[in-house]
Amino acid sequence: MRILLTGAQGQLGRHLQPLLAGHGELICVDRDECDFTDESATAALLNDVEPNLIVNPAAMTAVDLAEDEPQLADRLNHRLPSQLAEWCVQHQAALIHYSTDYVFGGTQTHPWREDDPQTPQSVYGTSKQAGEQAIIASGASALILRTAWLYSALPGNFLTAILNKAKAGEDLSVVFDQVGSPTWAQSLAEATHVLISQNHVPQAQTMCLHVVNHGAVSWHAFAQRAVSLAYQHGWIDREVKVRAVSSDEWPQKAKRPSGSVLDCSQYETLTGQHLASFDEALAKCLLQWSKRTC
Ligand SMILES: NC(=O)c1ccc[n+]([C@@H]2O[C@H](COP(=O)([O-])OP(=O)(O)OC[C@H]3O[C@@H](n4cnc5c(N)ncnc54)[C@H](OP(=O)(O)O)[C@@H]3O)[C@@H](O)[C@H]2O)c1
Repeated sequence: MRILLTGAQGQLGRHLQPLLAGHGELICVDRDECDFTDESATAALLNDVEPNLIVNPAAMTAVDLAEDEPQLADRLNHRLPSQLAEWCVQHQAALIHYSTDYVFGGTQTHPWREDDPQTPQSVYGTSKQAGEQAIIASGASALILRTAWLYSALPGNFLTAILNKAKAGEDLSVVFDQVGSPTWAQSLAEATHVLISQNHVPQAQTMCLHVVNHGAVSWHAFAQRAVSLAYQHGWIDREVKVRAVSSDEWPQKAKRPSGSVLDCSQYETLTGQHLASFDEALAKCLLQWSKRTC
């Protein structure tokens, strides 16, 4: 099997690389090899590589920037997955694509299930929803994996930003009124590997699954837990204060849902695999972070 991995140097892409390599010939691409804002260059890449499976974590993930650049968000989060799905239909290939909890909005009454009504509140959420809908409409053999609040030990995400500040001895202010499902990129990469190993990419249709670590926590509780664990292990010198602030006190350009916890029972029933709790995953990720930075 020839696998094309987009966004290979991104957070999830880097966790996927070693796991996908065991499934066949892996071709990793990032912006240097192909700029996906260029539709013709994307088509040329696909025709050149001729993959049997496309794994697509590439996206515009800067949620606030997307408010100012809706066309870029639309190209990368909607028209790119649409183009990949159409190519898959024409060439009997399969697609694994990633989407987001930010397709949901409004008041959360239960952990969102795959078929719950979507009410995205941001340009990013709307563009990712459009990407999902285009894949479904194409009839491609595709898996859409919706995840949330991705973090890793790599630089450039919420967790490492918090830890770097804490390591520098700075107190923190973090919002308490947005609750979600923080997910370690490694857990999502492993779930992708399980789905491929168990042959769960459906034929001539699209299946959507939620893949997150278990637990419902606010950004504040998540940050507090990370700081406490890092301090307990001696990876930071001081248990800095983590002040709880409301979203109103911490204005951001894009509106975020107040509750976006995802129910991942469909993935677990399908695969027979249990996804780790946020606490377990966070502890493992922190250990990786300490090895990189301490
Ligand atoms: N991060 C989260 O909290 C989160 C939450 C829910 C869902 N998701 C979804 O999970 C997936 C993976 O997220 P992630 O955190 O791994 O994202 P990421 O770290 O931002 O990686 C995105 C990748 O896409 C590449 N890319 C962006 N624009 C490109 C372009 N014009 N041409 C070629 N490549 C381009 C980036 O390359 P550059 O580095 O060169 O820009 C990067 O390698 C995405 O579909 C995202 O929507 C993420």
